Order: sequence, then C-alpha cells, then structure tokens
Amino acid sequence: MKRVAILLSGAGSNMVALAESMTGDHPARPVLVLSNEPAAPGLERARALGIATRVVDHRAHVDRAGFEAAMMVALRAARPDLVALAGFMRVLSPPFMATFSGRMLNIHPSLLPKYRGLDTHARALAAGESEAGCTVHEVTAALDDGPTLGQGRVPVRSGDTVETLAARVREMEHRLYPAVLRRVAEGNREVLFLP
Ligand code: GAR
Repeated sequence: MKRVAILLSGAGSNMVALAESMTGDHPARPVLVLSNEPAAPGLERARALGIATRVVDHRAHVDRAGFEAAMMVALRAARPDLVALAGFMRVLSPPFMATFSGRMLNIHPSLLPKYRGLDTHARALAAGESEAGCTVHEVTAALDDGPTLGQGRVPVRSGDTVETLAARVREMEHRLYPAVLRRVAEGNREVLFLP
C-alpha cells in the first residue's frame, strides 16, 4: 500500500476528495495531512476523516530554511511514498522539492502553462478565455511547472464571475486529482484529460 501525505493551507476540499477516494482496492492511503496554517479548516476536516494531522506554522520560523526543515521532519516521520500538494500556498525551495523529486504532485487552478501563480480565474476572465480548468503536475523546482499528469477543462460561461468560475473549476479539481493520484499510485504517468 502506498502512503500519501497531503499538504494544505486552507479549506481542504481537494484533500477531502483525495482522502475519500483512497478506500477499497485503491493502492494508496492517506497517512498525514500537514498544514502551514494552524487555522486551516482542512485540518478539522482531516481529523473528521480519521487522518493524522500536523501543523508547521511558517510564522514560527525566522526563515524559509527553518520552516522547511521542520516540514521535512514532520513529513519524513510519516514515511510518504507520495506527497500531494492540495491548496498548499507556500513556495517551496528547490532543495525541498528535490527531496521528493518524482513523488510530489500539485494541483493548480488553470490550464497550465497559462496563468501560473495567483488569481488565475480573474486573469482568465479578464483575458476573455472561453475555457478554463485545472492541471495536476509533478512538482519540480519551478513555480507551477513540471510534467503534466492531468488536465480538466470546463467552459467559461457568459456572466461568469470569479466565484462561479472557481466553483466550476473546483468541481473538476475534485474529479481530476483523485483520478490522477490513483493512476500515479498504480505507476501510470500518462497524461489524463477530462472530461
Ligand atoms: C484549489 O482551487 C487549488 O487548485 C488551489 O487552491 C485551492 C485550494 O482549495 N491551489 C493553488 O492555487 C496552488 N497554486 P482547497 O483547499 O479547497 O482544496
């Protein structure tokens, strides 16, 4: 059975989708939910699902190196085979990411390579895009980059706001990320396109 650690900073809806998918004949199980944000609602949701949680508050460390060293201690203790970033909003340094090279996944709410970084939906709307979506990729040293493992497209509808578009993309995230995680846990890294 593969061991999966999930890193988050906020609501944790992707974490819930991932965790709820890892049952039955699924080849992986969630072993840790780790957050840099003590107030992240995702922590309580993880506890309700019976998953071990840890907090490494970035504000408690003077620099990124100290924060990442503490993260590494917490992560290593869980002995994860795979690390899934699910709304984890801190930038990780190249050495940290190299430690989990090929074993760390991320979901980003845009059709990468478009709209790396923050405010993806506002930028897609401002650009008049007719479609939007989300991307699951392997984490490499570059921000929101690395080999694509899956991409889910949704239409942009007339009258869409950031909120309505984000909600449509979020639904797709909850389908795409579990599907990609399962394939990766099975050793399949072919790109998955949804729908
Ligand atoms: C998701 O939309 C995810 O794609 C995004 O944060 C949200 C987290 O929601 N991630 C990023 O923007 C990473 N750069 P959640 O906490 O409910 O899963």
